[in-house]
Amino acid sequence: MLKKLKNRIKEFLRPTDKTVQIKWSLFGRVWREIGKPQWKWLLAGVICTILAASAEGYTITLVRRIIDQAFIERSASSLYLFGLLIVAAFGLKAAFTYAKDLIMSKAGLLAIARLQNRIYSHMMKMDVAKFYGGGIGKHLNYFGVQANAVLNLVTGTIIQAVQNIATLMITIGIMVYFAPQLCVMLLFMAPAIIIPLVLITRKRRVLSRRSFGIANDVSQHLNQTLHGMKTIQSFGNEAIESKKFAEIIRVSNLNAYRNTQASALQAPLLEIMISIGLALSLLVGGHFITSGVISIGDFTAFLLALTAAYKPAKSITGLNGGIQHGLLAAEVLFDYLDSKSGITDARGAVKLKRGKMSVAFDNVSFSYLPNEQVLSGISLAVPAGTICALVGPSGGGKTTMFNLLERFYDPQKGKISINGKDLKKYTLHSLRENMAEVSQDVFLFNGTIADNIRYGAPNATPKQIEAAAKAANAHDFIMGFPKRYDNNVGERGALLSGGQKQRIAIARAILKDAPILLLDEATSALDTHSEKLIQAALKKLMVGRTTFVIAHRLSTITDADQICVVRNGKIVEHGTDAELAAMNGEYKKLRDIQFKKTKK
Ligand SMILES: Nc1ncnc2c1ncn2[C@@H]1O[C@H](COP(=O)(O)OP(=O)(O)O)[C@@H](O)[C@H]1O
Ligand SMILES: [Mg+2]
Repeated sequence: MLKKLKNRIKEFLRPTDKTVQIKWSLFGRVWREIGKPQWKWLLAGVICTILAASAEGYTITLVRRIIDQAFIERSASSLYLFGLLIVAAFGLKAAFTYAKDLIMSKAGLLAIARLQNRIYSHMMKMDVAKFYGGGIGKHLNYFGVQANAVLNLVTGTIIQAVQNIATLMITIGIMVYFAPQLCVMLLFMAPAIIIPLVLITRKRRVLSRRSFGIANDVSQHLNQTLHGMKTIQSFGNEAIESKKFAEIIRVSNLNAYRNTQASALQAPLLEIMISIGLALSLLVGGHFITSGVISIGDFTAFLLALTAAYKPAKSITGLNGGIQHGLLAAEVLFDYLDSKSGITDARGAVKLKRGKMSVAFDNVSFSYLPNEQVLSGISLAVPAGTICALVGPSGGGKTTMFNLLERFYDPQKGKISINGKDLKKYTLHSLRENMAEVSQDVFLFNGTIADNIRYGAPNATPKQIEAAAKAANAHDFIMGFPKRYDNNVGERGALLSGGQKQRIAIARAILKDAPILLLDEATSALDTHSEKLIQAALKKLMVGRTTFVIAHRLSTITDADQICVVRNGKIVEHGTDAELAAMNGEYKKLRDIQFKKTKK
């Protein structure tokens, strides 16, 4: 038991690791980015704070005068005046405190809104590799935990510091002014207070940093499970997920408790030191009064000031923890805000104007992760207005080619060009404006069907939306819903079937009316009958557009102008349906299997 205690104390005193050093220069950045825009509010808040502290100090000097003038000199008439003054002083203190609270709340709300808007627009511009890297749950924390911790640095911690320092200076001023002899005595006690506090602060800094990592784990886990609830339940993994969560919470609690162990020590330590100070002051002060060095009023003022100093002194010792926590959050947050998107407009990028578009891959190689080549040496020329089909085993790299075309990623080697010009020379916005994609996994936003179809063409009229839905063979099932086009699709389109979602995505692409069309297994979730209908619609849509089609069912691509068989990141066969069928290779094999099936 004793050994355990000894170990705990040892662990507590263990020097903190070097990585936890605080960069004080961050203060400047925090001020510039968060404090400065609200400087008027903050200044007003600081003034109110100082005025409130002064009013409090004034009440102490009033008590001293009451004792020395009214009681000792027995002048009853001045009692009325003092009574009034006391009420007035407290009234002022209350008014200034209230004003400070209102002002600081205003400053805080303005600052956090600004900060959150900044985080949001930064997130919107992130390249997908960075965005998805390390899970998306952590992004949520920047808005909540981190933003608030940084904000608190300005509107909470710093104002608190001002308030406490002002009160402390006023109370110490009173003590020194009325009873300097007693103050000298108290001075000797200072080291006994400071040394343990420094140790505690060091410990808390480590725990603070750890707590951010833990907060990320919590939101990461929550985010994943919220989105994967059906999968979890279908695999019967409820208990396993709960257990994982319990473990994360346990670690989080342990860390929080360690923090309490350290921080809760501060107040009692300080209290003991102050009580010793009080006891000594009483002893020595009593002696001074009887020997006539100081008056009873002076002594009372000293005692009142000493007790009034307790609260701010305690807060100041706790303040350091808050500052450390805030600065750590600021460091993480600013790192996030400073991270540059890898995919941006090149200098002098031009707008890609609408019109005919030819696309070419020129010896393109790409990997998502170092040393895991996904595409190697892809070369391909697609003339304007023609159809290029990509087929091959899954994992071959077909969707990746689309990702590169839309510049979600840039190839490490080679280049992709439109109308003979490198993709990177066009502005990102205009590039994507000229492409419409129906992707493998359709994403719908929580909103109405009409909203979702309109997503790529915000100004579309209801008539245009309906026409697009008709072309996508979606109109009929939409009319079957109680609210028709105003029916909600649910979170991520959860209220629709896979085939329905796909048809809405097709309508969305039709409405966008872009010169380059990217269809990634766009009809895979449909039954054969609907597929035929949509195929006809898509065929009409493809006219005059440069189209890339990824398809598993070869029957849908037999009339493509060129077909590429993509395997292990390479184009292994290339030609028209007839040419490839005659080659007796991979395509022929796939074709034989599929057409035999349909013939049966
Ligand atoms: N975001 C990603 N990060 C890392 N690897 C990826 C990512 N997306 C796909 N891959 C990998 O790239 C390869 C090609 O994937 P993909 O282009 O989706 O194939 P296909 O569409 O032909 O089925 C696969 O091995 C896959 O595991
Ligand atoms: Mg794919």
